[in-house]
Amino acid sequence: MQTDSSFTFVLFGGTGDLSMRKILPALFEAHRAGGMLADSGKIVAVARHIADRAAYIDWVNEHVKPHVSKNGVDETAWASFLDRIEFVKIDLGKPEDFTLLRDALSGRPGIRVFYLATGPSLFVPICHALASVGLNENSRIVLEKPLGYDLKSSNAINDAVGEIFAEEQIYRIDHYLGKEPVQNLLALRFGNVLFEPLWRREWVESIQITIAEELGVEARGDFYDNTGALRDMVQNHLLQLLSIVAMEPPHSMDSDSVRDEKLRVLRALKPIDPRDIGKVAVRGQYHAGVIRGSAVPAYATEPGVKQDSTTETFVAVKVEIENWRWAGVPFFLRTGKRLADRVAEIVVNFRAVPHSALGASALRGGANRLVIRLQPNETIRLYCLAKQPGEGMNLASVHLDLAFDRFFREGQMEAYQRLLLDVINGRLALFVRRDEQEAAWRWVEPILNEWAASNKPPKPYAAGTWGPAAASAMLAQHGTCWLEEEN
Ligand code: BG6
Repeated sequence: MQTDSSFTFVLFGGTGDLSMRKILPALFEAHRAGGMLADSGKIVAVARHIADRAAYIDWVNEHVKPHVSKNGVDETAWASFLDRIEFVKIDLGKPEDFTLLRDALSGRPGIRVFYLATGPSLFVPICHALASVGLNENSRIVLEKPLGYDLKSSNAINDAVGEIFAEEQIYRIDHYLGKEPVQNLLALRFGNVLFEPLWRREWVESIQITIAEELGVEARGDFYDNTGALRDMVQNHLLQLLSIVAMEPPHSMDSDSVRDEKLRVLRALKPIDPRDIGKVAVRGQYHAGVIRGSAVPAYATEPGVKQDSTTETFVAVKVEIENWRWAGVPFFLRTGKRLADRVAEIVVNFRAVPHSALGASALRGGANRLVIRLQPNETIRLYCLAKQPGEGMNLASVHLDLAFDRFFREGQMEAYQRLLLDVINGRLALFVRRDEQEAAWRWVEPILNEWAASNKPPKPYAAGTWGPAAASAMLAQHGTCWLEEEN
């Protein structure tokens, strides 16, 4: 991907965790790969606590370098990457400081990208301050999640940002949309004739989407305790994945065709009746446990977390889509911290054959299953029944595998790298449009409200397990189970 379009990438929150772990390493990878970033493109970091550029470069060397290139840093590329970095010291609480930024950006060629890697409470003040010095023209703005706390606060931010930037200038990032296997899901569904005829209620019995993490809340206890898994993962990543799995074929891959189809899914989600929440949603919180042989503490004892916290670190929820393609097919979404494994996958369970001349095993529900493993070890696996060798007709489950790292050894791109290049090059398809975000908030809100009003605490689960037993019971009611519970 060659580019000659110049840019200035302004990074607010230049010393934050996200800049350190994701954004700067992704920009470095794009730089190292060569040809992806215009030579004249610059990164302007903005921070308050750092004295000057030299001090910022020291910080980057100390904190960012350990997060780049797992296989060792290419020192020549690193040195030339540092040459791209400039620094402006700004106190975001002082709008008058933005004249420094205006002066630093004046006369530069190309598009300006403002990346707001800050808390959402700063989004609106930053936008106002940018507008006050005329920097909202010829620019794009990237907003990190969480965008708001609920529908109302998210609307308030979107309204305020929308007064300053047009929707086509706003890039709401959901890094799951930048993951290679998520892109591949589109290729699988819309580049092959094989799956499309089966991708519907007549042939699909249920779908599971899991994002399980072994990590706990790390250093983010404070943030997480005010957020919880429903806002942190379900409202965005999981509903976005669901909309890609369930959407109709778009007419093209341009940004609005894809986003229009995703929106149709989000709008077709069956609203949850608050009286049913106990039946269709499970919330859990981890207690102390053991993960890969190491003892880990309970959520309520993590730094920054209230001792009597009722914040959920686990959610499982049953979703239904009210349209002809999916009516009656349950989608089970699940996410949690401190679970037994780190895995993100989509499991499509197909129906059993209507009649089997081959014996009962061919009739067992879900003989055919498609498992799309997003991480780790990206694979797509199709399970089928085959005859076991030897006498008689005994069937066994076998699978066809597409392991991406074996087929495509080169060119895998991290989600942030792809998304940042998309912003710089003005490609909106993988960013969340305002109406999608609103539809997602609207759907989760009854659950948020019910949990906030309820005096029942989340269900406990031991760290290192798959969450509360109630999550398994919910699937059992539909005659199915989570993938890891098979056999
Ligand atoms: C982030 C959440 O959006 O996604 C984190 O805020 C979570 O809590 C992370 O850990 C998971 O992303 P990934 O790419 O590591 O699966």
